[in-house]
Amino acid sequence: MNYFILFTALAALFGFQTSQAPPSRGEAFSHQRHSPLKMKCTACHATAEKEESASFPEIQKCRTCHVDMSQREIPAARVYALKEFVSFSHGRHSESKIGCASCHGEVMKMDNIQVFRPTTMASCVACHKEHKASVACNTCHELGQ
Ligand code: HEC
Ligand code: HEC
Ligand code: HEC
Ligand code: HEC
Ligand code: HEC
Repeated sequence: MNYFILFTALAALFGFQTSQAPPSRGEAFSHQRHSPLKMKCTACHATAEKEESASFPEIQKCRTCHVDMSQREIPAARVYALKEFVSFSHGRHSESKIGCASCHGEVMKMDNIQVFRPTTMASCVACHKEHKASVACNTCHELGQ
């Protein structure tokens, strides 16, 4: 009897579970924890190869695995964000075979996303020069108002 209680307590303590259901606690999202699943970026950032914005997943996406996950803010915070006067398109870069890692680094190895390539004008222009892409001002800024 005592042994049974001890076992139950240990099981709770170390998180032994009879099923392999993933846990459903509410910490920040870690890409690294999800890397064994080998999901495509576009499974969660659905428009990253086609549209201007890469977009974030809805909580319903998480609930396909974490069935009883409670509501949370997605994203918890923004890491990369351009000012409004800059034109940028994910779809346009994907079309030119510039992979996610050139700008965001090895995201699937990150617990918390850190800025890999800064979103400064100097950084954008340096890569455009490297790839012989346009560096005319109106490539990235609407002129003329
Ligand atoms: C395809 C299935 C799947 C999807 C979709 C998924 N997860 Fe997970 N998640 C897992 C698995 C499996 C683990 C456990 C990984 C491990 O043991 O390290 C996990 C772990 C976690 C953890 C860590 C739990 C802990 O105990 O440390 C959090 C938090 C989490 N996921 C949040 C999310 C959020 C938020 C989303 C939606 C944006 C999401 N997950 C989408 C399968 C998924
Ligand atoms: C299981 C879903 C999932 C997958 C797969 C996934 N992400 Fe994410 N990603 C998220 C969530 C959720 C956030 C918001 C983080 C938070 O709120 O803690 C995020 C945030 C990011 C951010 C930070 C954006 C910002 O400005 O705040 C980048 C960059 C990113 N992901 C890139 C990638 C790349 C590249 C891949 C593929 C290698 C990828 N993600 C795969 C769910 C996912
Ligand atoms: C040429 C550089 C570059 C590449 C390549 C790139 N990103 Fe981004 N990413 C950015 C910039 C810059 C932002 C900020 C955009 C803004 O604020 O409008 C961003 C923002 C994001 C965000 C936040 C949500 C959003 O739409 O603003 C996610 C998620 C993301 N990127 C995922 C990806 C994924 C997945 C890929 C690959 C399919 C990718 N990125 C490729 C530069 C890049
Ligand atoms: C890793 C390299 C790289 C980085 C970093 C990068 N770009 Fe680009 N960008 C390219 C390439 C390559 C093209 C496609 C050029 C072509 O096909 O002529 C492109 C195309 C574009 C276009 C479309 C140009 C056109 O003529 O249609 C815009 C707008 C643009 N980038 C804005 C930005 C901004 C803003 C940033 C910084 C936040 C940025 N880029 C960062 C490589 C990069
Ligand atoms: C490849 C994209 C790209 C090109 C080409 C480009 N810019 Fe920018 N520019 C940016 C980005 C990104 C920022 C925002 C920097 C930030 O938020 O720190 C910016 C910021 C600025 C600012 C605001 C000043 C500041 O420090 O925030 C001015 C003014 C500007 N650019 C003028 C120009 C002029 C003039 C040209 C042509 C000679 C040019 N840009 C070409 C991407 C570009």
